[in-house]
Amino acid sequence: MEQRGAVIQNDGMTAPALPLIAIDGPSGVGKSTTARRVAERLGWYYLDTGAMYRAAALAVQRAGIALSDRPALEALLQSLDLSQEGTRIFLAGEDVSEAIRSQATTQLVTPVSADARVREVLVDQQRRIGARGRWVVDGRDIGTVVFTGACCKVFLTASPEARARRRFLELQAKGQSPDLEAVLQDLQRRDLADSTRAVAPLRRAEDAAELDSSALSLDQVVDWIVARHQSHP
Ligand code: DC
Repeated sequence: MEQRGAVIQNDGMTAPALPLIAIDGPSGVGKSTTARRVAERLGWYYLDTGAMYRAAALAVQRAGIALSDRPALEALLQSLDLSQEGTRIFLAGEDVSEAIRSQATTQLVTPVSADARVREVLVDQQRRIGARGRWVVDGRDIGTVVFTGACCKVFLTASPEARARRRFLELQAKGQSPDLEAVLQDLQRRDLADSTRAVAPLRRAEDAAELDSSALSLDQVVDWIVARHQSHP
């Protein structure tokens, strides 16, 4: 049970809710753009945890190690140097914001983000970054695992068709010639992988508000989240 502005801890005591907005949802629903815009409106910081998993996958890819090689993976995680400045993500000081969106990294991020040890390390970093609040954080497990005490949790959805159409238009705008059916199949593959994995699967937190954005504009989604936050500060 939740009290407004407070979270019941395991010991039954109440802790003040963390001033942090958690936005979870499936691939291609527009979480990152939405979260960035919400952060701009509130004057808060924005953390893209998907970009962190992508950068970790890029590091694994570049090191050429198999996830089954646990000592090599552990060494890589111990020296993993990720940072974010605005919307740019850095791996050991190198701006990898474009590289993490490649097809190869997008394929590899599914098994990398399903690895319990990878998640442990990245969740720890995310908690340290957001600990003092005033962050808008987007991902798959922010409301359920990373920041269970967030004052405002949103589970953003849209039909697979609506998400595929948006992604298709984005790729076209970048000068690419995507195939709509292939984009839809890729989204459905990622939905299935994210929601059925053993560790931190994608699901709505019990205290998250769900918003289906299939028929909404970006501005409408941002307005809705800001209004919800202001009514549950
Ligand atoms: O949001 P995105 O598509 O950039 O996320 C990249 C991958 O990382 C995607 O396969 C889901 C995974 N991810 C995750 O497991 N947990 C998060 N908090 C964020 C992303």
